[in-house]
Amino acid sequence: MSDEAPKRFAGYAAADLVDSGMVVGLGTGSTVRYAMERLAERMRQGLTCVGVPTSHQTAMRARALGIPLASLNDAPRLGIAIDGADQVDPALRLIKGRGAALTREKCVAAAADRLVIVVDEGKLAERLAVQVPIEVLPFACATVTARLARMGGSGRVREGTAKDGPVVTDNGGLVIDWSFGPIDDPERLESEIERIPGVVTAGIFSGFGKKTTVIVGDDAGYRVLTR
Ligand code: 5RP
Repeated sequence: MSDEAPKRFAGYAAADLVDSGMVVGLGTGSTVRYAMERLAERMRQGLTCVGVPTSHQTAMRARALGIPLASLNDAPRLGIAIDGADQVDPALRLIKGRGAALTREKCVAAAADRLVIVVDEGKLAERLAVQVPIEVLPFACATVTARLARMGGSGRVREGTAKDGPVVTDNGGLVIDWSFGPIDDPERLESEIERIPGVVTAGIFSGFGKKTTVIVGDDAGYRVLTR
C-alpha cells in the first residue's frame, strides 16, 4: 500500500461531503490535494461548486483541475472548508501552518459553516505538542521573537529550501516556528500569541471544534471524528 493511500482516502471522503451549489474553502497541502482531485472528478459528473483557495499553491492546482475560484471577498460565507492539519487533539483543536498558509486558512475556517480536516493517523495526539507556526509582520520579527522567548520555549524564523533567506508568505509575512513543548491550554496560548503586536496569526486553531469533522485516513479506508 502506498504512503499516499491514507491521504487519498481522507481527501476523497471529504470531497464527497460537498453538495451542489456550495462555496468550498480549499485548504493547502498534500492531503487537500486529493480532496480537490475528487472534487474535480465529481464536477465532471455534474456537481457545481466554487472554491475559495487559501494559497497560491491551491489556486494553481484548482485552476489546473478546472475548479472555478472566488476570493473570500467575493464569497464571504462558505458552506464547508476542507483543510489539512499538522496535529489534532481529542477536542479537535489543531496546529496548522507547515505550508505557511495559516492566516488564510484561519480566515476561511472562520467563515465556513463546517470545517472538515483531513489527516492520517500520525497527526493525532493526546496533547498538541509540535512546533507552532506563527505568521508575523517582517517589521516586528525581532520584537515578536523577544516576546515569545519570554513566554518560554524556542524557535526561529523559517528559512526557504529552494530560496536563500526566510520564507515569505502569500501575504508578505514571515513565519516563526516556535516549540512550546506539550501545550496545556491551547485556547490561552493562541490568544496570548495573537495579542503580541506584530503577530498576524498563531497556528493554533482552538476555536472551531464544534463545527469540525476530522477524517482520519489509513491504509484501508477512513474513520470520522466529531465532538
Ligand atoms: C498549510 C497547512 C497544511 O494544511 C498542513 O500542514 C497539513 O499539510 P499536509 O496535508 O501536506 O500534511 O496547515 O499551512
